[in-house]
Amino acid sequence: MIDKFGRVHNYLRISLTDKCNLRCNYCMPQEDMQFMPSAWLMSAAEIRTLAGIFVDMGVQKIRLTGGEPLVRKDVGQIIESLGELPVSLTLTTNAVFVEQYMGTLKKAGVRSLNISLDTLQEERFKTITRRDHFKKTLDNIHLLLAEGFSVKLNMVVMRDLNVEEVNDFVELTRNQPNLHVRFIEFMPFNGNQWDFSRMVPYQTLLDTIGGQFEFEALAGEANDTARCFRIQDGQGTFGIISTITNHFCAGCNRIRITADGKLKNCLFDTTEVDLLKAMRQGEDVKPLIYSHFQAKHFAHGGHSDFTDKGAKAEYETNRSMIAIGG
Ligand code: GTP
Ligand code: 5AD
Ligand code: SF4
Repeated sequence: MIDKFGRVHNYLRISLTDKCNLRCNYCMPQEDMQFMPSAWLMSAAEIRTLAGIFVDMGVQKIRLTGGEPLVRKDVGQIIESLGELPVSLTLTTNAVFVEQYMGTLKKAGVRSLNISLDTLQEERFKTITRRDHFKKTLDNIHLLLAEGFSVKLNMVVMRDLNVEEVNDFVELTRNQPNLHVRFIEFMPFNGNQWDFSRMVPYQTLLDTIGGQFEFEALAGEANDTARCFRIQDGQGTFGIISTITNHFCAGCNRIRITADGKLKNCLFDTTEVDLLKAMRQGEDVKPLIYSHFQAKHFAHGGHSDFTDKGAKAEYETNRSMIAIGG
């Protein structure tokens, strides 16, 4: 799949559900959110069929997302069936249920997981996630590392919530070769109270880290979402995902399917095409995928710069993050 800017797209993100066992408000705006009725969701068999079609079209990496992918009852079956495809399979999860799926993950060849963790403080974890699963999350991260998985921790940095913990997260990389920590610029989605002033920019993050650590930049891959670094004598690494102040769209290789089976060209593109409906009507979905994909914009779904005055209103028309999957 090559778009009109010559970018090869070989990385498919599939959201399994818009439900989650946590309630981080940068992601799930309301406590009493209306979730999709289960009839709207792709079944395990439909996910397998769609994934197979995308593999035929050139996809080599599949990431399962949510909401929280592991809250789905049939997630074990989904992981198993996608593990049979010739792809690198992985997940982004909050890790709370990870220990229940260790065997399944290993059997399916999953070697690395991306895990959302925005704080190392128990009370703050409760404030951010509105749930009390801090110990479980940390235990499962340690379990994964002990079992030889490589772990990427995703920390969404917010000026009013957790910015002073950045260097504590960097410190985690000192003695842990399989750990990569990523600091993410807070991004705007429907209802998530984003404001430019709450976001901590790439350069501020680097300056903060430079105040305490010597570090070097690492060469990355063309498609990376993060720019990567290593502290002196560090065994692990850290990175910064700078969507707002320094986007990486020129190297974009990502497409998405939402849990209700809509193809989304970009995290910020609000035009979607209903692959699930077409598939249920017995239509050939490949031409639909191609024509929608060819309309992909160069950056940010064609929306204006995040600093523009009207931008906030534009991003409000998108889904909330929990219904996209990141
Ligand atoms: P790797 O496969 O390990 O590189 O992970 P990833 O960065 O693709 O995925 P992950 O689900 O861990 O996402 C980390 C952060 O990057 C989240 O905040 C995502 O929303 C963001 N992200 C992932 N893909 C994209 C993208 O295509 N564009 C933008 N702007 N952000 C993205
Ligand atoms: N801005 C940036 N990253 C976000 N995530 C969720 N919501 C946002 C947001 N508003 C991240 C989570 C998760 C990943 C899929 O997306 O940290 O790890
Ligand atoms: Fe790709 Fe859109 Fe992400 Fe840019 S914002 S990297 S175009 S998905």
